[in-house]
Amino acid sequence: MLDKNDVHHRIETPDMKDYGVYLAVDRLLDCQKPLADLCTPDELQFQIVHQVEELWMKLIAFTLAEIDGHMAAGETMRVLSLFTRVHQLMRLMTDQLSLLETMSPFDYQSIRLQLGNGSGQESPGFQLLLTLPQPLWARYKAAYLDPTTRSVADVYDTGYQHDEAYMVAEALIEFDELFQIFRAHHIYLIHRSIGMGSKSLKGRPVELLNAGARHRFFPELWDIRAEMTDRWGAEYGVKRDSISGAPAGHGSGL
Ligand code: HEM
Repeated sequence: MLDKNDVHHRIETPDMKDYGVYLAVDRLLDCQKPLADLCTPDELQFQIVHQVEELWMKLIAFTLAEIDGHMAAGETMRVLSLFTRVHQLMRLMTDQLSLLETMSPFDYQSIRLQLGNGSGQESPGFQLLLTLPQPLWARYKAAYLDPTTRSVADVYDTGYQHDEAYMVAEALIEFDELFQIFRAHHIYLIHRSIGMGSKSLKGRPVELLNAGARHRFFPELWDIRAEMTDRWGAEYGVKRDSISGAPAGHGSGL
């Protein structure tokens, strides 16, 4: 049998040897509400998930700044390694949202009363991340396109070489895609917890988040794919003849 009070006491008074001192574990564990003040046991999870997400966003922002420097220095291998890290972090951010799906809508309502009119839209990490892709795109163009006067269309199609410019562009679009997936998954989390018909604590309709989930950081990288489909498809016009002789039915288009 566990003595809950004893466990709580031991959680809140960590044994600070070198490991704990280096990682500032005492200050880290002090960033959540005192356990005695939680409005419901699920509130600890709610705070920790949000705090961990802020830490991942700190690491993503830091890493994107490193990537920018390596792009400027032409260090593509380093750029690609660090993008792999950023992509993994984005996946972690999305995966971790599902922890909050273990919280009942009932338990969340009592936590929600604690939040004032706070909104995820005020997340410092998220707001910072939103500002980084545009300058990163300018850096990509300056480092990989401008010196050779190539366009995105050259990199992907007309002068396609599967080269460094292509690989870094794919890393950028993967970040963009994973960011959208985070936003979309977060919307499902809202479906599960407070329902989509509701209003945020700022009184805004939750549906407004749908526009953000459709936002693309690097539209040129998305558009090139559709342009290629049009260009390559121009040989058959709007609809291609069947290669089996069967009439084209609904849902047969690839
Ligand atoms: C039960 C869990 C959650 C609920 C009910 C919830 C609810 C909401 C709502 C209603 C909004 C819209 C706010 C507004 O319009 O002012 C919002 C935005 C946001 N939330 Fe959450 N949220 C939850 C968990 C999280 C978590 C774990 C994160 C972690 C980062 C997060 C990050 C954000 C962000 C970044 C936004 C702005 C999104 C955008 O502009 O696309 N939320 N959330």
